[in-house]
Amino acid sequence: MPAAMKIAIVDDEKDMRQSISQWLALSGYDTEAFASAEEALKSLGPDYPGIVVTDVRMPGMDGMQFLKKLMGSDSSLPVIMITGHGDVPMAVEAMRIGAFDFLEKPFNPDRMTELAKKATNARRMTLDARALRKDLSDGGQLMKKLIGTSGAMERLREDILDLGQADGHVLIEGETGTGKTLVAHALHAVGARAGRKFVSVACAAFDDEGLIKRLFGPVQPEDARLPAFEEARGGTLVLEDIEALSEAAQAKLLTHINAEGTPPETRVVAISNMQDEGHTCEDALRPDLFYRLASLRITVPPLRQRGEDILTLFTRFAEQFSEDYGCDAPQVSAQEATQLLQAPWPGNVRQLFNVAERAVLQARRGSGTITSLLMSDHQDMQPVMTTEGKPLKEYVEAFERMLIDNTMRRHKGSIAAVMDELCLPRRTLNEKMAKYNLQRSDYL
Ligand SMILES: Nc1ncnc2c1ncn2[C@@H]1O[C@H](COP(=O)(O)OP(=O)(O)OP(=O)(O)O)[C@@H](O)[C@H]1O
Ligand SMILES: [Mg+2]
Repeated sequence: MPAAMKIAIVDDEKDMRQSISQWLALSGYDTEAFASAEEALKSLGPDYPGIVVTDVRMPGMDGMQFLKKLMGSDSSLPVIMITGHGDVPMAVEAMRIGAFDFLEKPFNPDRMTELAKKATNARRMTLDARALRKDLSDGGQLMKKLIGTSGAMERLREDILDLGQADGHVLIEGETGTGKTLVAHALHAVGARAGRKFVSVACAAFDDEGLIKRLFGPVQPEDARLPAFEEARGGTLVLEDIEALSEAAQAKLLTHINAEGTPPETRVVAISNMQDEGHTCEDALRPDLFYRLASLRITVPPLRQRGEDILTLFTRFAEQFSEDYGCDAPQVSAQEATQLLQAPWPGNVRQLFNVAERAVLQARRGSGTITSLLMSDHQDMQPVMTTEGKPLKEYVEAFERMLIDNTMRRHKGSIAAVMDELCLPRRTLNEKMAKYNLQRSDYL
């Protein structure tokens, strides 16, 4: 359950303030009352985790001035105004300034609750979107979001940090669903352009003429935004599906890039998911453009090359989904772990993400197994699998690591509880944690 939303109630009349407060507290809101706008302003910062209900007629700063102040510091903060009976022009003016809605005195308390619910929902969405945007612009957060400790992932992290610092154009390659878009965000967030513009264009979604216009303009009066290169000036421009560029678009892009010089005014991060055996976007692009874009290159590895990360990703995703759906995360048996490790995962991390969601929904219903989910995704998968191709030891170790990781997580790093549940002496547990690079501090 997310924390209750706050409601700040501002009214100079004590009785009114208290009764509104009590009424909304009964509906489950965390209320706080203020006798004046001046007093309320001291507590209402730009990311206030809730909404405001205010009277309009107050001595000192009145409701309208108060509203203007609030809109100045956070224009999406929902403010519900309580106006006198028949005060229509004032209500209209309040809406124009940015009030969420108004209530005319005397009002029906149910109408107040209804409005408060609408306003808090809107507020929650705004704050969630802000948090997400912040996550995507915070390099440290983003690197943490990239789950996995396999050698392949560690190399990818190093690449991101190295190339993030270098300031040339970048080409990101990798199969579908491997995390290329996430890596593009990370590159921007850890580099010198962090905090500047980040613009993304899905090249395959446009026809030739439309794409050239989207990238370079000219802008028409009816266009809502600037051409992408202008919009992203000083920052990063991501070109998704770079192989979709026609010859004409390639020629324009090359001319533009050459004209910008080095370091480029706009850093281009091109993304390609052409990765069939031996085929890369090198075949689809003219060589001179390819070499400009691929001056720095990152390849995002397919999931099947990330070994034990498959289990880590699965359990992390399953944990998130079980929180969302309010149920327990499914337990993964040794056999299921082996199957997760052996599945071919053509849809990579995205596919794993979907399988984890379905596994949680199944567990909530109390039916189905992870095996049956994998079988429906991978028709050619055998129900009983062999450990052909990889030594048994690898599977056993991956499973052991997952069990310790999960148990540590559940017990929030309590070594005693983990020793007890897994029937392990302290020394063995310590040795295994060291071997699998698991740190107690990560679970506290
Ligand atoms: N290492 C990772 N750790 C956690 N989540 C990841 C990781 N890699 C990818 N994801 C998640 O998997 C999903 C797919 O990633 P993303 O969209 O970046 O892949 P993509 O390669 O750009 O896919 P496409 O080829 O379809 O464009 C997203 O939900 C992303 O957050
Ligand atoms: Mg993508």
